[in-house]
Amino acid sequence: MIDNHNREINYLRISITDRCNLRCVYCMPKDGVSFLGHEDILSYEEILRIVDAAVKTGIIKIRVTGGEPLVRRGITDFLSSLKKVEGLRDISLTTNGILLEDYAEEIFDAGIKRINVSLDSLSPDRYRDITRGGDISRVIRGISKAHDTGFSPIKINVVAIKGFNDNEIIDFAKLTIDKPYQIRFIEFMPVGNSAMENSMGYLSNDEVLKGINSFSPLEPVVPTRRDRTDGPACLYTMKDAMGKIGFISAMSHEFCSSCNRLRLTADGHLRACLLSDEPTVDLKTPLRNGCSNSELGALIENLISRKPGSHKINQQQAHRRKCVTNMSSIGG
Ligand code: GTP
Ligand code: 5AD
Ligand code: SF4
Repeated sequence: MIDNHNREINYLRISITDRCNLRCVYCMPKDGVSFLGHEDILSYEEILRIVDAAVKTGIIKIRVTGGEPLVRRGITDFLSSLKKVEGLRDISLTTNGILLEDYAEEIFDAGIKRINVSLDSLSPDRYRDITRGGDISRVIRGISKAHDTGFSPIKINVVAIKGFNDNEIIDFAKLTIDKPYQIRFIEFMPVGNSAMENSMGYLSNDEVLKGINSFSPLEPVVPTRRDRTDGPACLYTMKDAMGKIGFISAMSHEFCSSCNRLRLTADGHLRACLLSDEPTVDLKTPLRNGCSNSELGALIENLISRKPGSHKINQQQAHRRKCVTNMSSIGG
Protein backbone atom coordinates (compact mmCIF):
# COMPACT_ATOMS: atom_id res chain seq x y z
CA MET A 1 0.00 0.00 0.00
CA ILE A 2 1.14 3.57 -0.72
CA ASP A 3 0.87 5.84 2.34
CA ASN A 4 -0.15 9.48 2.49
CA HIS A 5 3.46 10.58 1.90
CA ASN A 6 3.75 8.59 -1.34
CA ARG A 7 5.88 5.83 0.20
CA GLU A 8 5.35 2.18 -0.67
CA ILE A 9 5.03 0.27 2.63
CA ASN A 10 6.36 -3.20 1.86
CA TYR A 11 8.59 -4.15 4.81
CA LEU A 12 7.46 -5.52 8.19
CA ARG A 13 9.88 -5.99 11.10
CA ILE A 14 8.60 -8.49 13.64
CA SER A 15 9.93 -8.59 17.20
CA ILE A 16 9.21 -12.12 18.44
CA THR A 17 10.46 -11.52 21.99
CA ASP A 18 11.47 -8.60 24.21
CA ARG A 19 13.96 -10.84 26.02
CA CYS A 20 17.67 -10.84 25.35
CA ASN A 21 20.75 -12.72 26.48
CA LEU A 22 22.73 -9.44 26.52
CA ARG A 23 22.15 -6.05 28.18
CA CYS A 24 23.72 -3.52 25.82
CA VAL A 25 24.13 -0.25 27.68
CA TYR A 26 22.43 1.83 24.98
CA CYS A 27 19.49 -0.51 24.71
CA MET A 28 18.50 -1.87 28.11
CA PRO A 29 18.80 -0.72 31.71
CA LYS A 30 21.23 -2.73 33.88
CA ASP A 31 18.58 -4.30 36.09
CA GLY A 32 14.92 -3.96 36.83
CA VAL A 33 13.80 -4.70 33.29
CA SER A 34 10.35 -6.24 33.41
CA PHE A 35 9.72 -8.61 30.57
CA LEU A 36 6.43 -9.59 29.02
CA GLY A 37 4.76 -12.75 30.32
CA HIS A 38 4.03 -15.76 28.15
CA GLU A 39 0.34 -14.74 27.76
CA ASP A 40 1.26 -11.21 26.72
CA ILE A 41 3.36 -12.12 23.72
CA LEU A 42 1.86 -13.17 20.42
CA SER A 43 1.99 -16.87 19.68
CA TYR A 44 3.69 -17.86 16.44
CA GLU A 45 0.24 -18.73 15.03
CA GLU A 46 -1.00 -15.22 15.85
CA ILE A 47 2.06 -13.67 14.20
CA LEU A 48 1.45 -15.76 11.09
CA ARG A 49 -2.14 -14.52 10.88
CA ILE A 50 -0.89 -10.94 11.04
CA VAL A 51 1.69 -11.71 8.35
CA ASP A 52 -1.04 -13.15 6.09
CA ALA A 53 -3.11 -10.00 6.50
CA ALA A 54 -0.04 -7.78 6.06
CA VAL A 55 0.93 -9.51 2.80
CA LYS A 56 -2.51 -8.60 1.44
CA THR A 57 -1.76 -4.93 2.15
CA GLY A 58 1.49 -5.16 0.15
CA ILE A 59 4.15 -6.42 2.60
CA ILE A 60 6.73 -8.48 0.69
CA LYS A 61 9.71 -8.34 3.06
CA ILE A 62 9.95 -9.52 6.67
CA ARG A 63 12.71 -9.18 9.22
CA VAL A 64 12.54 -11.16 12.44
CA THR A 65 14.06 -9.35 15.43
CA GLY A 66 13.94 -9.27 19.24
CA GLY A 67 15.18 -8.59 21.89
CA GLU A 68 17.22 -11.49 20.70
CA PRO A 69 15.10 -13.67 18.40
CA LEU A 70 17.22 -16.80 18.90
CA VAL A 71 16.29 -16.99 22.61
CA ARG A 72 12.65 -17.76 21.77
CA ARG A 73 11.89 -21.48 21.62
CA GLY A 74 10.58 -22.85 18.34
CA ILE A 75 12.10 -20.12 16.19
CA THR A 76 13.29 -22.40 13.41
CA ASP A 77 9.86 -23.98 12.96
CA PHE A 78 8.39 -20.49 12.93
CA LEU A 79 10.87 -19.42 10.24
CA SER A 80 9.94 -22.48 8.15
CA SER A 81 6.25 -21.53 8.40
CA LEU A 82 7.03 -17.95 7.47
CA LYS A 83 8.94 -19.20 4.46
CA LYS A 84 5.75 -20.93 3.24
CA VAL A 85 3.66 -17.75 3.26
CA GLU A 86 2.87 -16.93 -0.33
CA GLY A 87 3.75 -13.46 -1.52
CA LEU A 88 6.85 -12.89 0.62
CA ARG A 89 9.99 -12.16 -1.35
CA ASP A 90 12.56 -11.67 1.39
CA ILE A 91 12.78 -13.01 4.96
CA SER A 92 15.75 -12.32 7.18
CA LEU A 93 16.83 -12.13 10.79
CA THR A 94 18.73 -9.65 13.00
CA THR A 95 20.61 -11.30 15.86
CA ASN A 96 23.30 -10.42 18.41
CA GLY A 97 25.14 -13.56 17.29
CA ILE A 98 25.60 -15.15 20.73
CA LEU A 99 23.61 -18.27 19.71
CA LEU A 100 24.36 -18.07 16.00
CA GLU A 101 26.94 -20.84 15.91
CA ASP A 102 24.36 -23.25 17.36
CA TYR A 103 21.51 -22.13 15.09
CA ALA A 104 23.11 -21.14 11.76
CA GLU A 105 22.50 -24.45 9.97
CA GLU A 106 18.93 -24.85 11.25
CA ILE A 107 18.04 -21.31 10.21
CA PHE A 108 19.60 -21.82 6.80
CA ASP A 109 17.72 -25.09 6.37
CA ALA A 110 14.51 -23.26 7.30
CA GLY A 111 15.10 -21.21 4.15
CA ILE A 112 16.61 -18.00 5.56
CA LYS A 113 19.62 -17.12 3.42
CA ARG A 114 20.74 -13.78 4.79
CA ILE A 115 21.32 -12.44 8.26
CA ASN A 116 22.31 -9.26 10.15
CA VAL A 117 24.50 -9.47 13.25
CA SER A 118 25.12 -6.73 15.85
CA LEU A 119 28.75 -6.24 16.93
CA ASP A 120 29.85 -2.92 18.40
CA SER A 121 33.48 -3.67 19.25
CA LEU A 122 36.22 -6.04 18.15
CA SER A 123 37.89 -5.90 21.55
CA PRO A 124 36.79 -8.68 23.93
CA ASP A 125 36.94 -6.35 26.96
CA ARG A 126 35.05 -3.52 25.35
CA TYR A 127 32.48 -5.93 23.94
CA ARG A 128 31.97 -7.31 27.44
CA ASP A 129 31.51 -3.76 28.76
CA ILE A 130 29.00 -2.56 26.19
CA THR A 131 26.94 -5.76 26.32
CA ARG A 132 27.33 -6.04 30.12
CA GLY A 133 28.93 -9.47 30.07
CA GLY A 134 28.83 -10.78 26.48
CA ASP A 135 31.52 -13.13 25.15
CA ILE A 136 32.73 -11.84 21.80
CA SER A 137 34.31 -15.16 20.83
CA ARG A 138 30.82 -16.66 20.49
CA VAL A 139 29.77 -13.89 18.09
CA ILE A 140 32.93 -14.25 16.01
CA ARG A 141 32.39 -18.01 15.81
CA GLY A 142 28.73 -17.40 14.95
CA ILE A 143 29.62 -15.07 12.08
CA SER A 144 32.19 -17.56 10.70
CA LYS A 145 29.70 -20.36 10.95
CA ALA A 146 27.09 -18.26 9.14
CA HIS A 147 29.65 -17.57 6.41
CA ASP A 148 30.60 -21.25 6.09
CA THR A 149 26.93 -22.25 6.06
CA GLY A 150 26.35 -20.04 3.03
CA PHE A 151 24.49 -16.98 4.37
CA SER A 152 24.84 -14.06 1.98
CA PRO A 153 24.96 -11.22 2.52
CA ILE A 154 26.08 -11.14 6.15
CA LYS A 155 25.57 -7.62 7.48
CA ILE A 156 27.33 -6.52 10.66
CA ASN A 157 25.70 -3.64 12.55
CA VAL A 158 28.03 -1.34 14.48
CA VAL A 159 26.50 1.48 16.55
CA ALA A 160 29.19 4.18 16.27
CA ILE A 161 29.86 5.84 19.63
CA LYS A 162 32.32 8.66 20.32
CA GLY A 163 34.80 7.74 23.02
CA PHE A 164 33.86 4.09 22.85
CA ASN A 165 34.51 2.49 19.47
CA ASP A 166 35.59 5.46 17.31
CA ASN A 167 39.18 4.17 17.42
CA GLU A 168 38.02 0.83 15.96
CA ILE A 169 36.35 2.22 12.85
CA ILE A 170 39.29 1.44 10.56
CA ASP A 171 39.56 -2.08 12.03
CA PHE A 172 35.90 -2.67 11.28
CA ALA A 173 36.35 -1.29 7.75
CA LYS A 174 39.35 -3.58 7.21
CA LEU A 175 37.14 -6.62 7.84
CA THR A 176 35.64 -6.00 4.40
CA ILE A 177 38.99 -6.42 2.62
CA ASP A 178 39.03 -10.20 2.54
CA LYS A 179 35.53 -11.10 3.74
CA PRO A 180 32.31 -10.41 1.80
CA TYR A 181 30.70 -8.82 4.86
CA GLN A 182 28.70 -5.61 4.83
CA ILE A 183 29.85 -3.53 7.80
CA ARG A 184 27.15 -0.96 8.64
CA PHE A 185 27.78 2.00 10.91
CA ILE A 186 24.57 3.09 12.67
CA GLU A 187 24.15 6.49 14.30
CA PHE A 188 22.95 6.27 17.87
CA MET A 189 19.25 7.12 18.12
CA PRO A 190 17.46 8.51 21.17
CA VAL A 191 15.18 5.57 21.81
CA GLY A 192 13.96 4.32 25.18
CA ASN A 193 15.51 4.88 28.59
CA SER A 194 19.07 3.82 27.86
CA ALA A 195 21.95 4.83 30.10
CA MET A 196 24.19 5.62 27.19
CA GLU A 197 23.87 9.32 26.67
CA ASN A 198 25.23 10.10 30.10
CA SER A 199 28.50 8.33 29.54
CA MET A 200 29.21 8.25 25.83
CA GLY A 201 28.78 10.45 22.82
CA TYR A 202 26.92 10.65 19.57
CA LEU A 203 29.12 10.21 16.51
CA SER A 204 27.86 11.27 13.11
CA ASN A 205 28.42 9.00 10.14
CA ASP A 206 30.06 11.91 8.27
CA GLU A 207 32.88 11.65 10.81
CA VAL A 208 33.04 7.86 10.44
CA LEU A 209 33.19 8.18 6.66
CA LYS A 210 35.92 10.82 6.91
CA GLY A 211 37.96 8.52 9.16
CA ILE A 212 37.70 5.59 6.73
CA ASN A 213 38.41 7.82 3.73
CA SER A 214 41.65 8.97 5.30
CA PHE A 215 42.70 5.32 5.52
CA SER A 216 41.44 4.25 2.09
CA PRO A 217 39.15 6.20 -0.28
CA LEU A 218 35.59 4.92 -0.35
CA GLU A 219 33.73 4.47 -3.64
CA PRO A 220 29.93 4.75 -3.54
CA VAL A 221 28.13 1.60 -4.64
CA VAL A 222 25.99 2.91 -7.48
CA PRO A 223 23.10 3.21 -7.11
CA THR A 224 23.27 3.39 -3.32
CA ARG A 225 19.60 2.36 -3.07
CA ARG A 226 19.05 -0.62 -5.30
CA ASP A 227 15.70 -2.16 -4.58
CA ARG A 228 12.32 -0.92 -3.36
CA THR A 229 12.56 -3.22 -0.32
CA ASP A 230 16.08 -2.14 0.70
CA GLY A 231 16.88 -0.93 4.20
CA PRO A 232 18.21 2.58 4.85
CA ALA A 233 21.95 1.91 4.49
CA CYS A 234 23.97 3.91 1.92
CA LEU A 235 26.71 1.64 0.59
CA TYR A 236 30.37 2.15 -0.29
CA THR A 237 33.40 -0.06 -0.97
CA MET A 238 37.11 0.27 -0.33
CA LYS A 239 39.28 -0.39 -3.38
CA ASP A 240 39.63 -4.13 -4.11
CA ALA A 241 37.68 -5.06 -0.97
CA MET A 242 35.37 -8.09 -1.07
CA GLY A 243 32.80 -6.58 1.25
CA LYS A 244 30.89 -3.31 1.54
CA ILE A 245 30.60 -0.52 4.07
CA GLY A 246 27.16 0.87 4.85
CA PHE A 247 26.02 3.98 6.68
CA ILE A 248 22.67 4.18 8.46
CA SER A 249 22.43 7.87 9.29
CA ALA A 250 19.00 8.27 10.85
CA MET A 251 19.99 11.38 12.82
CA SER A 252 22.27 13.36 10.49
CA HIS A 253 20.64 12.44 7.17
CA GLU A 254 17.07 11.57 7.97
CA PHE A 255 15.75 8.94 5.54
CA CYS A 256 12.06 9.08 6.53
CA SER A 257 11.00 10.15 3.04
CA SER A 258 11.94 6.69 1.78
CA CYS A 259 10.82 4.74 4.86
CA ASN A 260 9.09 1.57 3.71
CA ARG A 261 8.43 -0.18 7.04
CA LEU A 262 6.12 -1.08 9.89
CA ARG A 263 7.10 -2.79 13.14
CA LEU A 264 5.21 -5.43 15.09
CA THR A 265 6.15 -5.62 18.78
CA ALA A 266 6.21 -8.90 20.69
CA ASP A 267 3.00 -7.93 22.51
CA GLY A 268 1.13 -7.42 19.27
CA HIS A 269 1.25 -3.67 18.69
CA LEU A 270 1.93 -2.45 15.20
CA ARG A 271 4.09 0.73 15.14
CA ALA A 272 4.32 3.13 12.25
CA CYS A 273 7.61 4.80 13.31
CA LEU A 274 10.70 3.62 15.17
CA LEU A 275 11.40 7.01 16.72
CA SER A 276 7.91 7.84 17.88
CA ASP A 277 5.53 5.92 20.14
CA GLU A 278 2.62 7.19 18.03
CA PRO A 279 0.79 6.08 16.02
CA THR A 280 0.37 2.40 16.93
CA VAL A 281 -2.46 -0.07 16.76
CA ASP A 282 -3.17 -3.02 19.07
CA LEU A 283 -3.65 -6.12 16.91
CA LYS A 284 -3.50 -8.67 19.74
CA THR A 285 -6.86 -7.77 21.33
CA PRO A 286 -8.88 -7.97 18.11
CA LEU A 287 -7.04 -11.18 17.17
CA ARG A 288 -7.91 -12.78 20.48
CA ASN A 289 -11.50 -11.56 20.16
CA GLY A 290 -11.81 -13.53 16.93
CA CYS A 291 -11.54 -10.82 14.26
CA SER A 292 -11.39 -11.88 10.61
CA ASN A 293 -8.36 -11.54 8.32
CA SER A 294 -10.02 -8.71 6.44
CA GLU A 295 -10.66 -6.83 9.73
CA LEU A 296 -6.97 -7.29 10.58
CA GLY A 297 -6.04 -6.00 7.13
CA ALA A 298 -8.25 -2.93 7.62
CA LEU A 299 -6.50 -2.15 10.95
CA ILE A 300 -3.09 -2.41 9.25
CA GLU A 301 -4.17 -0.19 6.36
CA ASN A 302 -5.57 2.36 8.76
CA LEU A 303 -2.20 2.53 10.56
CA ILE A 304 -0.34 2.88 7.26
CA SER A 305 -2.58 5.82 6.39
CA ARG A 306 -1.51 7.50 9.67
CA LYS A 307 2.25 6.86 9.27
CA PRO A 308 4.04 10.16 9.92
CA GLY A 309 6.08 11.77 7.16
CA SER A 310 9.15 12.28 9.34
CA HIS A 311 10.46 11.68 12.86
CA LYS A 312 11.40 15.38 13.20
CA ILE A 313 14.09 14.82 15.80
CA ASN A 314 17.62 16.04 15.37
CA GLN A 315 20.61 15.52 17.60
CA GLN A 316 20.09 18.84 19.41
CA GLN A 317 16.53 17.90 20.32
CA ALA A 318 17.34 14.28 21.11
CA HIS A 319 16.45 14.77 24.77
CA ARG A 320 12.87 15.63 23.77
CA ARG A 321 12.28 12.06 22.79
CA LYS A 322 9.02 10.86 21.39
CA CYS A 323 9.95 7.22 21.90
CA VAL A 324 10.25 6.00 25.48
CA THR A 325 9.80 2.36 24.52
CA ASN A 326 13.12 0.51 24.80
CA MET A 327 14.75 -0.60 21.54
CA SER A 328 14.73 -4.18 22.83
CA SER A 329 10.91 -4.16 22.70
CA ILE A 330 10.79 -2.70 19.22
CA GLY A 331 13.56 -4.70 17.58
CA GLY A 332 15.55 -1.85 16.01
P1 GTP B 1 18.34 -4.74 5.46
O1 GTP B 1 19.07 -3.56 4.93
O2 GTP B 1 17.22 -5.19 4.62
O3 GTP B 1 19.25 -5.88 5.74
O4 GTP B 1 17.65 -4.38 6.83
P2 GTP B 1 17.77 -3.27 7.89
O5 GTP B 1 18.97 -2.42 7.71
O6 GTP B 1 16.46 -2.59 7.94
O7 GTP B 1 17.90 -4.20 9.19
P3 GTP B 1 18.63 -4.12 10.58
O8 GTP B 1 17.80 -4.84 11.58
O9 GTP B 1 20.02 -4.63 10.48
O10 GTP B 1 18.59 -2.58 10.88
C1 GTP B 1 19.69 -1.88 11.19
C2 GTP B 1 19.36 -0.69 12.00
O11 GTP B 1 19.02 0.39 11.16
C3 GTP B 1 18.15 -0.79 12.88
O12 GTP B 1 18.34 -1.53 13.97
C4 GTP B 1 17.98 0.64 13.24
O13 GTP B 1 18.95 0.98 14.16
C5 GTP B 1 18.23 1.28 11.90
N1 GTP B 1 16.97 1.41 11.23
C6 GTP B 1 16.34 0.46 10.49
N2 GTP B 1 15.15 0.93 10.07
C7 GTP B 1 15.02 2.20 10.54
C8 GTP B 1 13.99 3.19 10.45
O14 GTP B 1 12.94 3.00 9.85
N3 GTP B 1 14.20 4.35 11.07
C9 GTP B 1 15.33 4.58 11.75
N4 GTP B 1 15.44 5.78 12.31
N5 GTP B 1 16.31 3.67 11.87
C10 GTP B 1 16.18 2.50 11.28
N1 5AD C 1 20.46 3.59 18.26
C1 5AD C 1 20.94 2.96 17.17
N2 5AD C 1 20.98 1.63 17.02
C2 5AD C 1 20.53 0.89 18.03
N3 5AD C 1 20.43 -0.44 18.16
C3 5AD C 1 19.87 -0.70 19.37
N4 5AD C 1 19.61 0.45 20.03
C4 5AD C 1 20.01 1.46 19.22
C5 5AD C 1 20.00 2.87 19.31
N5 5AD C 1 19.52 3.51 20.38
C6 5AD C 1 20.87 -1.39 17.13
C7 5AD C 1 21.51 -2.65 17.65
C8 5AD C 1 21.24 -3.64 16.54
C9 5AD C 1 20.06 -3.09 15.80
C10 5AD C 1 18.90 -4.03 15.78
O1 5AD C 1 19.72 -1.88 16.46
O2 5AD C 1 22.88 -2.52 17.84
O3 5AD C 1 22.32 -3.73 15.64
FE1 SF4 D 1 20.01 -7.34 23.25
FE2 SF4 D 1 20.20 -6.15 20.82
FE3 SF4 D 1 19.42 -4.74 22.93
FE4 SF4 D 1 21.93 -5.57 22.82
S1 SF4 D 1 20.93 -4.13 21.34
S2 SF4 D 1 20.58 -5.70 24.64
S3 SF4 D 1 21.76 -7.48 21.80
S4 SF4 D 1 18.30 -6.42 22.03
